[in-house]
Amino acid sequence: MALKTGRNKHPASQQHGFNTELEYASYRTQWPEKTGWCDSNDTSESDAEAGRDRIVQQTDQDASSSRMSAVSLGYLDDPFTRGLYPPGDDVPKRYPIINRGTYIRTKAIDQLVTRFLEASPKQNKQIISLGAGSDTRFFRFWADRAFEESGVQYHELDVEANVNRKRGMIRGSSQLSGYVDQAEKGSSFYRLHAIDLRDLTAKSPPIIPGLDAELPTLLISECCLCYLPPDAAASVLQYFTMHVRAPLALVLYEPIRPFDAFGKTMVSNLASRGIHLQTLKRYSSLEAQRHRLRLAGFDTGQGARDVYQLWESNEWTSQAERDRVERLEWLDEIEEWKLLASHYCVAWGWRGDIFDEAWKDLNGARSNAEAKDHELG
Ligand SMILES: C[S@@+](CC[C@H](N)C(=O)[O-])C[C@H]1O[C@@H](n2cnc3c(N)ncnc32)[C@H](O)[C@@H]1O
Repeated sequence: MALKTGRNKHPASQQHGFNTELEYASYRTQWPEKTGWCDSNDTSESDAEAGRDRIVQQTDQDASSSRMSAVSLGYLDDPFTRGLYPPGDDVPKRYPIINRGTYIRTKAIDQLVTRFLEASPKQNKQIISLGAGSDTRFFRFWADRAFEESGVQYHELDVEANVNRKRGMIRGSSQLSGYVDQAEKGSSFYRLHAIDLRDLTAKSPPIIPGLDAELPTLLISECCLCYLPPDAAASVLQYFTMHVRAPLALVLYEPIRPFDAFGKTMVSNLASRGIHLQTLKRYSSLEAQRHRLRLAGFDTGQGARDVYQLWESNEWTSQAERDRVERLEWLDEIEEWKLLASHYCVAWGWRGDIFDEAWKDLNGARSNAEAKDHELG
């Protein structure tokens, strides 16, 4: 997909779009809201819906390829990505700006998770990854003994096809299945749930097996809720804010800023294919993401930073790490990098003391760099 920015096109935009997830998104249309108005027995409509779902589900292969690329080039130290990558598939090579983005997003979310685990370290905790796909975070943290002090109940939710594939790969790897067994023997566990998140928005939603309503819980949506219609995404969050009685927090990674020149081009290219990413327009800025988190019930605190800010700030990436990453690959498209990175964000919001302790020192408040967002609406 070629996404025109009104500037010279970066080769990455020709092959990958601004972000590989959006490349896939450009082929899908919005899921119909489950209002009853859209219910239809028409086979062609249900076929079309199944096709759209399949494309969303396949975004995981793309996320996994990006991770594999970043790992193979030394951006990320992650021995588990290979085990969850389709055997026999070539190691992909993404463009440097994509690799750098994968690196930052992974490190920023890791930092939020680590701070949660280190707050009240003896307290048992729960992590729920929405649309986890072939994410390796459980295995990386387990191998780093990050779950040693306290028990961590780690749940991953995704659609059946992705969960079945991941289960098969874990079973086929003695290393991965060994970690799952070790966790079970200790006070932690790892559970994969084949659940379509849209089912959590039903009047009688399914109970997630093993979900502990009394444990401080961190929800992670790393490029997942953005694939749902905004009302469905809000209802999914409501499921958790209502079911979990303990302190609760959410970390999001999503695209933002559809209204500036770069974002408008992105949106119009998508719209020309009949696609309207409603979450992108509804939560279009860092402030809109903070507001969303507050409204969703994460009302003790909220923070948000775009990926470029995460890269630039010593709070998130040390100078030594920036130097190391810069040496990995030559990146001469600095302006393209800034544009791309400022169109993705990590946002976090919480209710409850333990998250206050974990995250209160992180600066995610409104910054001067956001002044333009206000002008753009
Ligand atoms: C872009 S991938 C991200 C995967 C993973 N979080 C990562 O960052 O590597 C999006 C994931 O969200 C999942 N997903 C999207 N909509 C979903 C839904 N309604 N229910 C469950 N999973 C969903 C997809 O199946 C896919 O695995």
